[in-house]
Amino acid sequence: MSILRLPGLVDAHVHLREPGYPHKEDFYSGTAAALSGGVTTVLDMPNTDPPTATPARLQEKARLAAAKAVCDVGLFVGATNTDADAYLPVAPHACGLKIYVSDTFGSLRIDTLDLLHQLFRTWAERADAVGYRSAGAAGGLGPIAVHAEELMLPVCLALADLYATPLHIVHVSRRSEIELIRAAKEKGRAITCEVTPHHLFLSTDDLPRLGARGDMRPRLATPDDVAALWANLAYVDIFATDHAPHTLAEKAGENPPPGVPGVATMLPLLLTAVHAGRLTLDDLLRRCVANPRRIYGLPDQPDTHVEVDVDAMTTLRDDAALTRVGWTPFAGMAVYGQVRKVVLRGETVFQDGQVLAAPGAGQVLF
Ligand code: DOR
Ligand code: ZN
Repeated sequence: MSILRLPGLVDAHVHLREPGYPHKEDFYSGTAAALSGGVTTVLDMPNTDPPTATPARLQEKARLAAAKAVCDVGLFVGATNTDADAYLPVAPHACGLKIYVSDTFGSLRIDTLDLLHQLFRTWAERADAVGYRSAGAAGGLGPIAVHAEELMLPVCLALADLYATPLHIVHVSRRSEIELIRAAKEKGRAITCEVTPHHLFLSTDDLPRLGARGDMRPRLATPDDVAALWANLAYVDIFATDHAPHTLAEKAGENPPPGVPGVATMLPLLLTAVHAGRLTLDDLLRRCVANPRRIYGLPDQPDTHVEVDVDAMTTLRDDAALTRVGWTPFAGMAVYGQVRKVVLRGETVFQDGQVLAAPGAGQVLF
């Protein structure tokens, strides 16, 4: 047994479903699943019901999270096409502005260039007053985060350039996307991006086996796309899960919603890649700790660490997951790395499969 002591991981992209869908997940079950995977900070997405798009909604969500979370939680604010400026007063209290420019779960969607201009421009104007948090300014704004699939990626790159806004591109999954991001970074553009474990460890080859359990947005990509992500890891700033739980009953229904859980399985999957020599531990920690902290300007978590048995081999199982939905698209995969203990601000919050923290032990950030 070889125990490694790591800093608490950040999962910069989760959907914890409150308010609106507590049967899929809530701030307790989602953050409990996070701790079981060595994650001590999650950044939660705004496509809840109602969406997190006004000061009142952000405050309400912060109240729900503060009461239940067992790890720290940052909250994204989402752009809506009905009231494009509603989020502005709370911008410094959100970890960033999420703009949905492609198909997703929920009602958030921006689909005109005119609105996109307005969103980038107003975010840049507000930042002129308060600065960007990623530049180290207390109370500043986080980046604009976009789904940038297919033809929307060059549009978002151009707008970020035009208005000089930091742009973070979530769940990059295609060769065409990572190659464009690589080219933009080589030209010195201030952009960052993230890749999910499911786009690194699964492909269209797994779809016949997985069915709706392998359906998410963006969809699983071809083995060639997966190879391109691995070959261009140097241009990937963050590993984040897009933890998007839906129940198995919903997945078995007529119109299964897209999305898969993942917050609990990121660390063992990545440690398995370290074991296989596909990644170094430093590559992992940069993308799961240092880079998300820098990009979102996250506060320090003093006296916080994770103890993981890096040689313990386990088989990922549906019924081992602490997420409310009780399944994982990685079921059956043999992985290295079992989280034994998580200490948050000096308190043991998770040990040997059990959450020890009381609901509310996690803090809401900003
Ligand atoms: O697969 C997905 N599910 N992709 C998204 O963009 C949203 C997510 C969800 O909220 O279920
Ligand atoms: Zn998402």
